[in-house]
Amino acid sequence: MPPVLFAMPGNEPAAQALGDALDAHVGKVEIRSFPDEETYVRVLDDVAEAETAIVCTLDRPNAKLPGLFFLARALKDLGARRVGLIAPYLAYMRQDTRFHAGEAVTSAYFAEWLSSFVDWLATVDPHLHRHADLGELYAIPAASAHTAPLLAEWIREHVSEPVIIGPDSESEQWVASVAREAGARCTVLEKTRRGDRSVEVSVPDIDGWAGRTPVLVDDIISTGHTMLETMRHLAQTDAKPPVCLGIHAVFAGDALAELRSAGAAQIVTCNTIPHETNAIDVLPLLAETVAAM
Ligand code: R5P
Repeated sequence: MPPVLFAMPGNEPAAQALGDALDAHVGKVEIRSFPDEETYVRVLDDVAEAETAIVCTLDRPNAKLPGLFFLARALKDLGARRVGLIAPYLAYMRQDTRFHAGEAVTSAYFAEWLSSFVDWLATVDPHLHRHADLGELYAIPAASAHTAPLLAEWIREHVSEPVIIGPDSESEQWVASVAREAGARCTVLEKTRRGDRSVEVSVPDIDGWAGRTPVLVDDIISTGHTMLETMRHLAQTDAKPPVCLGIHAVFAGDALAELRSAGAAQIVTCNTIPHETNAIDVLPLLAETVAAM
């Protein structure tokens, strides 16, 4: 029996692409809201003894989580051998410590909860700052696809004379590997976050890089303020208009419009979250990661 993938609403194209790459069947599931906004889930395939996985990218997670939980529980109840979660974007990774007294460390609690109802997890470049890998958080097998080679390839093909700028010291290693593979120089900034929408970044040291194109690289573009602050500094220099390159296209609120009006030459993301800026297809890479599970 081939593995069966199920798409949470909005994940149908990704599930089909992954199904094609993995020779998996894409199963049918009905997920909708009752009039009182409780969630209804019905599995329309026979999954007894099947290897199954749910495809659900987890941006704006709160509305998705009840359906994900009910579907995973239903698949187990209906006899699936294992239920995996393929989450191209993995939510609740950023609150990974108690920055202020009394705060919930949600990355740990979320991992504990997901680990209680799925058997394995595959994702793309999760936001790991204070943890070396997902195994430190998740009690189930958890694997990540790494997009650095794809970002580097995109830069090589689309930007002449790039200079890579990373947002913060935690990103240093992967930003350096993108730069190395793209054959570009790189600099990494110091970032201080003052609030949800307020960050300060150090002035990029791009002396002697006149005529080159800054490529601002980050794992997540959320409010866009990390990139906006960097662009504010770059505007004081004779650097060319920058390219904004993010892995996960969260784009909270007006982030996209703000980046455009601040003068971004191009805004490009990977398709872990469907968005008009998606230009780098990471699903074949994610399929390899899933196959290895
Ligand atoms: C934070 O450490 C991440 O790597 C990103 O820099 C951050 O999520 C970007 O958020 P925003 O777009 O809201 O500045």
